Amino acid sequence: MQWGQFIAHDLSKTTMLNNQECAACTSNNGRCFSVFLSRADPTWIYGSSDRDQFLFRQGAFLKTKLVKNRIFMNLHCSDTNMNVVAGDDRANIFVGLAALHTLFLREHNRIAATLQRVNPHWDQERIFHETRKIIGAIIQKITYFEYLPRVLGEEFERRIGDYPGYERNIDPSVANEFTSCAFRFGHGMIQVKHITLRKIFITLKLTPAVTERIFGNSDLGSINIQRGRDHGVPGFTRWRKFCGLSEIRDFDDLNKTISNKIVIDNLRVIYKHVDAIDMYVGSLLEDPVKDALVGPTLACIIGEQFKRTRNGDRLENIFYFTAFSRV
Ligand code: HEM
Repeated sequence: MQWGQFIAHDLSKTTMLNNQECAACTSNNGRCFSVFLSRADPTWIYGSSDRDQFLFRQGAFLKTKLVKNRIFMNLHCSDTNMNVVAGDDRANIFVGLAALHTLFLREHNRIAATLQRVNPHWDQERIFHETRKIIGAIIQKITYFEYLPRVLGEEFERRIGDYPGYERNIDPSVANEFTSCAFRFGHGMIQVKHITLRKIFITLKLTPAVTERIFGNSDLGSINIQRGRDHGVPGFTRWRKFCGLSEIRDFDDLNKTISNKIVIDNLRVIYKHVDAIDMYVGSLLEDPVKDALVGPTLACIIGEQFKRTRNGDRLENIFYFTAFSRV
């Protein structure tokens, strides 16, 4: 779960304006739409511009704060909410996410110190960027070799497969439907209690903690549905067609992909027509494909995005994917 949120924050960012300000009929000049960052490059650690780095970079290293003799991310000094300084301002939205940020901050500084020792002739700028490249490679390796195969199961080979080298005609941009719907599937993995190691086959389900009590009284499920509608994402049945999956013409057809009859009956009550089912709702309810956490529609959209993000990345392909594929 945690890795998903970590990389989601690398790929896109919707405004942090509150929902009232993003309501329909208000003039907000597009500020309620996502900013697509388009590369699997750890921007949540290093920021999206050189200017950001003034806040958290010190030469080759990332700034730290010592708390009870342990190294953590630096804090905004004027911030009474104790927000941490990182490449992304969502770094402490959740304790698990803050922990991963802290881990990679420490890893950056560890690698930078090693490179400095081994290459005393390198300047701070070079050490910083060489370290950043290594951190980027580690993150891409975990994402493509461990995380995505687990999320997509047997669909991984079909939808992503091996890296063929940089493909100049591939557009790596992040798709609207990926960020405003599909990759939010991870909200169905948030658990109220920690799962035991034996219970590794979880079913995607939005717990009441997510739909009723997140950040006080927000409903993240409804926000996700609303984002999909605001962003004009077509309905679930249209996505099945796009993905080359069997067509759903009426509610009875849903049993091709959702085995729980009660769920289908509930959809029948809630939606007037099968084509009105929101993509977020329908795709989250599908039975998972073999060895996967997600159903076929999510596997298709998530797979398509990550394939394009990898194969169309003209900047990092030589080091990240080619060298690390051989590891
Ligand atoms: C404790 C865990 C998590 C919390 C508290 C959380 C919370 C949130 C919140 C509040 C938003 C903004 C919603 C909006 O205004 O549109 C969001 C967006 C999003 N989340 Fe999560 N999330 C969590 C885990 C995850 C996971 C595990 C994934 C993926 C596997 C994920 C993927 C996304 C994506 C793709 C977005 C849209 C990003 C954007 O464009 O801003 N989240 N999340």
